[in-house]
Amino acid sequence: MKHSSIIESIGNTPLVQIREIGQEISQVKSGRVRIFGKVEFMNPGGSVKDRPALRMIQEAIKSGQLTKDKMILDSTSGNTGVAYAMIGAALGYQSELVMPPNVSLQRKKLIEVCGAKITYSSAFEGSDGAIRLAKKLLAESPEKYFMPDQYNNPMNPQAHYDSTGVEIWRDTDQQVTHFIAGIGTGGTVMGTGRRLKDYNRQVQVIAVEPDDSLHGLEGLKHMATSIVPGIYHEKELDEKISLPTEPAYHMSERLAKEEGLIVGHSSGAAMVAAFQVAQRIKEGVIVALFPDHGSRYFMD
Ligand SMILES: Cc1ncc(COP(=O)(O)O)c(C=O)c1O
Repeated sequence: MKHSSIIESIGNTPLVQIREIGQEISQVKSGRVRIFGKVEFMNPGGSVKDRPALRMIQEAIKSGQLTKDKMILDSTSGNTGVAYAMIGAALGYQSELVMPPNVSLQRKKLIEVCGAKITYSSAFEGSDGAIRLAKKLLAESPEKYFMPDQYNNPMNPQAHYDSTGVEIWRDTDQQVTHFIAGIGTGGTVMGTGRRLKDYNRQVQVIAVEPDDSLHGLEGLKHMATSIVPGIYHEKELDEKISLPTEPAYHMSERLAKEEGLIVGHSSGAAMVAAFQVAQRIKEGVIVALFPDHGSRYFMD
């Protein structure tokens, strides 16, 4: 496949059937329920966030909000930062990313290697502290920055409406019955869910969140104790499943060991939810979205 830029390889990620995990459930064993993972680490920046980052940047260039004399500024728990840094480098824009210091080393290195700047927010204020600091930087020097603001930019869910949802519908041969994704900004679950419901109102859209404000599921938000993103509309969801950290970690290990899918902890969380849904339905096609690669979580 030939591309004129790496950004053309964003999207069209594989949909992979989960073959071993879930075999203890009779409807899975018999094939009446099938579970698939949408493997987003196959994007060139290594995560699902390449999709919204590209769309928000492209729209801003089109509308004139992002010009060559401005930097891309945003708050990010890591994966969006890698996406901005990679896409910015490919298109010739500088990026400055605001994040708490506890973000994994891998992600910080990936951002720096693309030439982007990292500004640290308070370790005690989590992703909300990063949002506040990015807003303050923008207010102080509006002429210097373009802030995509992934939590409030409608192009974030729109990217998924126009790509992720279309791909899942196509690759399940229009058979998908349940779509499951974690909530960070809510862009993935909202945009993909909306597209799938436009195809078929019966598709169940299920969000996954940590069950407590203190959790280890990087990239995911506990909604009750977080700033609710402007793009997140809970009433559009059919269900929200709250999970503790430990089973999600365990499930991401199982995905690597039993399926060869080396995915991150939020993928483990989506798979735990998929397992729960598989247990309670008689038949269906469940798609769980796996946001990133497991190597992003290796400690050194
Ligand atoms: C590892 C990980 N999982 C899940 C998500 C959630 O994606 P979204 O922001 O589309 O809700 C993110 C987003 O930041 C993430 O980094």
